[in-house]
Amino acid sequence: MKKKIIFSGIQPTGLLTIGNYIGALSQWKYLQKKYFCIYCIADLHSLTIFQEKNILNKNILDILSVCLACGINPKQSIIFIQSHVPQHSQLHWILNCFTNFGEIKRMTQFKEKIHLNKNVNVGLFNYPILMASDILLYQTNKIPVGKDQIQHIELTRDIAYRFNNIYGNIFTIPEKRLNNYGSCVMSLLDPKKKMSKSDYNNNNIISLFDDDFIIKQKINNAVTDSDYPPNIKYDLKNKPGISNMLIILSNITGHSIKNLEQNFKNKNYKDFKKSVIQNLCLFLNKLRKKYFFYRTNKILLKDIITTGATKAKKYASLTLKKVYDAIGLDSL
Ligand code: TYM
Repeated sequence: MKKKIIFSGIQPTGLLTIGNYIGALSQWKYLQKKYFCIYCIADLHSLTIFQEKNILNKNILDILSVCLACGINPKQSIIFIQSHVPQHSQLHWILNCFTNFGEIKRMTQFKEKIHLNKNVNVGLFNYPILMASDILLYQTNKIPVGKDQIQHIELTRDIAYRFNNIYGNIFTIPEKRLNNYGSCVMSLLDPKKKMSKSDYNNNNIISLFDDDFIIKQKINNAVTDSDYPPNIKYDLKNKPGISNMLIILSNITGHSIKNLEQNFKNKNYKDFKKSVIQNLCLFLNKLRKKYFFYRTNKILLKDIITTGATKAKKYASLTLKKVYDAIGLDSL
């Protein structure tokens, strides 16, 4: 039987957080065993904010190396850079013409970003349609992402339905795939908001590149609650800080939340935080060792980039041809 297709993407901006790992990259690795996986470094998406040329190139190699360190295997899956496959931009224009202005205006990420951004360009506005193009080009079945991407995936599905209704079965209708515990890792100091790599306050996030000292400081300062006696229990509504750290600990150790609750029964928050710190340091030190191995191997990275683009183009061009044929483009 043909393997189901998994597609996802990540922007090469800033240092990744443990949220990116738990919400996306850990799933990416796991899914490779069973599915045909295609992963993209979304450099075109990152242009909605001005990018300095050398920094952009550095960030792309950094993120590629992180993906490899997280276990993405380029012999098993396709990993490529979005701008190296021109079909993404080609389909993007077409899908722009099948998307209503009102649909895009409703996107909450856009509404949030226009308040933060001085440079409100049109790219920021129709960014979700480029995401739809990424996904639909590969006849994707499932998209492993964090919760913040759900609305974009709903839009992708709507565009695909609309296109298929007019032209027949051109696109597979994709579905989101969320990590049950970890689809939205929260900020350390304000566990009611998402942990985000663009957070102005670095103490809200655990970056994959934080050293042991910084991790200790950040987790020790992370918000818990004033329950007495202390209660290490998963309860998102009433105990968001403790629940968030349980999610982090569960995902980096592989222990279930239930097991962790059992292990920390009758323990205090200090003991719990000590364990979160120890495990995070262990996990991130291992990850960084692998990262440096890839990041310093320029020839290997270049080879992965070239091979990834060649393979991705093969699949992307099949779908684009179907779309062109259906519409009547490039047929004279
Ligand atoms: P980006 O680069 O912002 O984030 C990459 C992935 O990390 C997830 N994520 C989180 N998950 C859980 N908790 C968090 N705190 C957290 N923060 C980030 C995101 O949900 C995402 O899965 N537009 C996308 C990139 C993209 C894409 C695509 C994704 C481009 N084309 C096609 C899927 C399919 C983005 O900006 O992700």
